[in-house]
Amino acid sequence: MTTDRSHEIPYFSEAESAEVVASRTAPDADARLAKVYAALVRHLHAFIKEVEPTQDEWTRGIEFLTETGHMSNDWRQEFILLSDTLGVSMLVDAINNRKPTGATESTVLGPFHVAGVPEYENGGNICLDGKGEPLVMSGTVTDPDGTPIAGAKLDIWTANDEGFYDVQQKDVQPEHNLRGIFTTDENGHYWLRAIKPRWYPVPDDGPVGKLIRALGRHPNRPAHIHIIAAAEGHESVTTHVFDPDCPWIHSDAVFGVKESLLGDFKHVDDAARAAELGVANPFWEVVYDVVLTRA
Ligand code: BEZ
Ligand code: FE
Repeated sequence: MTTDRSHEIPYFSEAESAEVVASRTAPDADARLAKVYAALVRHLHAFIKEVEPTQDEWTRGIEFLTETGHMSNDWRQEFILLSDTLGVSMLVDAINNRKPTGATESTVLGPFHVAGVPEYENGGNICLDGKGEPLVMSGTVTDPDGTPIAGAKLDIWTANDEGFYDVQQKDVQPEHNLRGIFTTDENGHYWLRAIKPRWYPVPDDGPVGKLIRALGRHPNRPAHIHIIAAAEGHESVTTHVFDPDCPWIHSDAVFGVKESLLGDFKHVDDAARAAELGVANPFWEVVYDVVLTRA
């Protein structure tokens, strides 16, 4: 006697591959996990059906992911770099930071943020080794209606004039070089002294660097200063101010540039103002206002 199994999900087949795999998930599995897994399987199987990899190509893909894992450790995250260079980090950021028009837009955090850095008075100089072209950065933090926000915190970090963060050059740069936290005054105003940012390559000595070069891409990020702006009762924003004159501004390796994040970096040659601000003449100046939405 044969048993009728026609009502059951069939064995694996090319035609129904994704459905067969997704149907194995137990009915009592976490609903969100089941949904995410089913979508992953559906898109991954569709990708394979489109690409039709040879067995060797599939093995090469597995090797690439293995190398990506081996390259990662406590301070080097090659999978985040993969996500960044695929544009996925910016897509996740966009989905999670939909802002009303006028609010400061977000961009990637990147791997070089450090928590617990020194807090400075307004006007403080975060350049601890005196290297680079001086820059004065200032601005106002406001609500979308223009009301200044007093006591907002701005966590700022940037690379040195050779394109390295302090954490990448522990024996070369002083600890916390070019990073610090500033607080807006009663008028929502902040200002600080730093250096003009320089472009730099994302770490490109691993499998992700090899991949983007094979695609004819470069690993460079256009010159930028990182900012996390936060104020009580408001949504914080993780963003950058970019130098629009940087040669890589239209081809950021991690797709972080947005029109609204381009700063106006002015070259100032004015000895009296330089003396007043406590910087060498000539210097650079950028005014960067931040608009935070209410929480
Ligand atoms: C950064 O801007 O610090 C950064 C962002 C993504 C990848 C690497 C670096
Ligand atoms: Fe950066």
